[in-house]
Amino acid sequence: MLFGGKGSIGLDIGSSYIKAVKLKESKGGYELELFDVYPLPPELIVDGSIIDSIRLVDSIKDMVKKAGIKTKDTVIAISGHSSVIIKRISLPEMSEEELQESIKFEAEQYVPFDIEDVDLDFQIIGPKEEPGQMDVILVAVKKDIINEYISVVKEAGLNPIIVDVDAFALENMYGINYDIEPDRNVALLNIGASTINMSILKGGISVFTRDSSLGSNLHTEAIQREFNLSYENAEKLKRGEPIENVQPESVTSVIESASEEILSEIIRSFDYYRSTTMHEDISEVILSGGCALLRDFATMIAEKTGIETKVAEPFRNVKISKKFDMTQINEIAPIMSIAVGLAMRKQGDR
Ligand SMILES: Nc1ncnc2c1ncn2[C@@H]1O[C@H](COP(=O)(O)OP(=O)(O)OP(=O)(O)O)[C@@H](O)[C@H]1O
Ligand SMILES: [Mg+2]
Repeated sequence: MLFGGKGSIGLDIGSSYIKAVKLKESKGGYELELFDVYPLPPELIVDGSIIDSIRLVDSIKDMVKKAGIKTKDTVIAISGHSSVIIKRISLPEMSEEELQESIKFEAEQYVPFDIEDVDLDFQIIGPKEEPGQMDVILVAVKKDIINEYISVVKEAGLNPIIVDVDAFALENMYGINYDIEPDRNVALLNIGASTINMSILKGGISVFTRDSSLGSNLHTEAIQREFNLSYENAEKLKRGEPIENVQPESVTSVIESASEEILSEIIRSFDYYRSTTMHEDISEVILSGGCALLRDFATMIAEKTGIETKVAEPFRNVKISKKFDMTQINEIAPIMSIAVGLAMRKQGDR
C-alpha cells in the first residue's frame, strides 16, 4: 500500500513487556493482523516514568524489526496515579463548544497539578437528573509524561497519532468482546508489573477509574528476598518454572502473601466506589494484565471479594486466522488487553 498500510498499531509500553497489536476491520468486526510481546529489562521504566529512553527506543526498534511491523501510525496510552486524572464531574449544562472554552477554568478545582502542566480532555455523557446539570468525564494527563512517551515512539521511527489512557483502552477492549447490560457494574482490573488500572463500568461506560502503583513486581521482589535470587530467576519461579535448589511449590506461600497485598488495595478501591455511589453492587470482575497469568490470582479475588471473577479474553470477538499459533495466543491473551483496546482507535478519534 502506498502509504505503508491502513490502520494503526496499538502499542502498550509496559514496564515489563511492550505489547503490540494490529487489527483490521472485517465484516463489521475485527481480525487480528499482527501481535507481539517484547520483554523489557526492569530498570527502563519505573513508576510510569521513562528512566532509560535510549534503551527503550532501541527495544521498540528491535521489536518492530523482529515482529515485521510495517505500519508507522501508532496509538499509545499513559497511565498511573501520578500522571493521569480521570474524574466524573457535574457541570451546568452547556454545549461542547462552550465547555471547550471554559474547560481549563472548570477543571482547575479537580486537578491536583498545575493546570498549565496538563493536557485536558472531556466527554459529555448526558444530562443529570438534576435540571440544568450535566455529567462530564474529565481527563487530565501531565504534559511532560505525554511528551516523554511521544518522543520515545518517534525516535523509534513510529508515528504516534493518538495518546489514550489505559482505563479507556480497557473499556474499548471490553466493548468489542462482551455483551453490555445496562445496569450491571463490571470492574475491569488490569494488573501488570507495577500498576493496577481499575475501571468500573456501568452499562459499558466507565464511571470510576483508579490507578495504583502496585503490581506483580511485588511477587517477584518477595521471591527474590525470600530465596535470595536474581530478578530473572525469581521471575521464572513466579511463572512456575523450576530453578536449581528451589522447589516451585515452596514459592506458593510467598506468592500468596504478595497477592494479599494487591488484594487489599483492590478491596479498598471497591469499598470506596461503593461508599461514593450509594452502595452500588459490583457484579463481575474481569482480570487482565500479567497478574491474570498468575495461577490462583483470579480465584483469590473471587474468594476475598465474593465477586465472580473472570480472566479477560481480549480476542473473544476477534477473528484469528490459522497462520497464528492459538496456543501461544491463549497463553498470553490477558496481557494483550490494553493493546487490543488501543488498536481499535482510529485517527480523528478522541
Ligand atoms: N506466566 C506467568 N505467570 C505469572 N506471572 C507472569 C507470567 N507471565 C508474565 N507474568 C508477569 O506479568 C507481569 C507483566 O504483565 P504486563 O505485561 O501486564 O505488565 P506491564 O504492562 O509490563 O507492567 P505495567 O503496566 O505495570 O508497567 C510481569 O510482572 C511478569 O512477571
Ligand atoms: Mg501494563
